[in-house]
Amino acid sequence: MNNIKQTLYKDEFNEIAQNFYDDMIYTWIPSYNELLSNTLRYIPRIKGSKILELGCGSGNITKLLCDICNDITVVDLSEEMLKLCKLKCSPYLTIICEDMTNVNFEKNSFDTIVSSIAIHHLSNDQKQKLFLKIYTWLKPGGIFVITDVMTTENKYMDTIASNHYNDYITKQGANKRHIKQLTEHRRKYDIVASRKEHFRWLSDCNFASINYTWINHFFTTIVCRKIVSKYSEVALKKI
Ligand SMILES: C[S@@+](CC[C@H](N)C(=O)[O-])C[C@H]1O[C@@H](n2cnc3c(N)ncnc32)[C@H](O)[C@@H]1O
Repeated sequence: MNNIKQTLYKDEFNEIAQNFYDDMIYTWIPSYNELLSNTLRYIPRIKGSKILELGCGSGNITKLLCDICNDITVVDLSEEMLKLCKLKCSPYLTIICEDMTNVNFEKNSFDTIVSSIAIHHLSNDQKQKLFLKIYTWLKPGGIFVITDVMTTENKYMDTIASNHYNDYITKQGANKRHIKQLTEHRRKYDIVASRKEHFRWLSDCNFASINYTWINHFFTTIVCRKIVSKYSEVALKKI
């Protein structure tokens, strides 16, 4: 991400954090609790495991991760979001306030890497590069779980989902001004790719067992595993 864009995103998310992110998120995201539990569902409960969370925000996933792991590294570019996260989960955390496209870790560092509703803020090129890095950071057999906004590549299906989504947030109390604000946020800060694209990029990195494990409107969870082979070593040289 270039510096101007990074500052823009940082300011936007700092402001959202100060405007009660945790109240807002239940209005904006259908079945947010379900989203959290489905994101967590496939994370192995291994004693002594190490987990990385990218774009942790106010720490709603992180808090649940603390119940299964006591070595968690979180990355987010908004210091205000990270303050909220720290309040919920402090003792187990290594906190990195940075753009996730700029961070680097040793090969084979983590048992699990997880990200929820954050990677859609990266360009498609950045997403693909990040997936390759995630592959290297995972230990062999490690799991990557991504829950994010993804389209279907079918205009009809996407329009239905979008109308349904607007009905949902209206029922949650959003008025025309809120919908306009949200539409503006999405236009400025979201770079949404399709489920198929995510699937293809993950297979290009040689992730195996790629599965959609939950779908609600545009919100989708994909779980996959790092299997090391000769082919994956070739893919990694592209980084
Ligand atoms: C919609 S919130 C999601 C937070 C949390 N994961 C959740 O599920 O509630 C998106 C988060 O991603 C962070 N974010 C966006 N772009 C980022 C980037 N390039 N690097 C690091 N964090 C980023 C924002 O600061 C924000 O906290």
